[in-house]
Amino acid sequence: MKFFIDTANIDQIKEAQDLGILDGVTTNPSLMAKEGITGEENIKKHYLKICEIVDGDVSAEVIATDFDGIVKEGEALAKLHDQIVVKVPMIKDGVKAIKYFSEKGIRTNCTLVFSVGQALLAAKAGATYVSPFIGRLDDISSDGLKLIEEIRLIYDTYMFDTEILAASIRHTMHVIDCAKLGADVMTGPLSSIEGLLKHPLTDSGLEKFLADYNKGK
Ligand code: G3P
Repeated sequence: MKFFIDTANIDQIKEAQDLGILDGVTTNPSLMAKEGITGEENIKKHYLKICEIVDGDVSAEVIATDFDGIVKEGEALAKLHDQIVVKVPMIKDGVKAIKYFSEKGIRTNCTLVFSVGQALLAAKAGATYVSPFIGRLDDISSDGLKLIEEIRLIYDTYMFDTEILAASIRHTMHVIDCAKLGADVMTGPLSSIEGLLKHPLTDSGLEKFLADYNKGK
């Protein structure tokens, strides 16, 4: 399972990278705005900064919603750096653009996916990644994890290459459950990754080991 961090915050990206387990970064316009990164040029510079920190894929989202606009923006983003994956929304022109990009060898992440039907279309169009937003489904009393399970079943049945990128992960149990269900990638906040480290028996066990070692001093 690949671990991506879902943030545009440079300190958090560096922290996850330093842990040695980071495979990539996802961002979106809201995450950029949260860091005060606005305007096309500043956003592009920020993507480049992120690419210099991490070795893996960095999703960069298009703003256009029409086919020509998505293609123009996506091609410019893909040219920025070979780690860039063009993030395209699950809309009709987005599906067409994903198909276009896949024929050109430009990698894509189909975002804002909330149903198996949408995931099926993304895979048919040749998306590199599909991003089902599990937290946002949970928010409206729908079952985000069930969606991961259903997409896994369909992709395995038809041997689609599209990777399931479980997105809108909110906490550590989401990460574990997505791993159990066979998601190829998870993207979440640093806290969801660091939560995997924690166990009270590890803390108390270490405390005892160190105390016993120090007795012999
Ligand atoms: O990866 C998708 C993500 O950025 C959305 O997360 O927490 O805003 O639903 P959230």
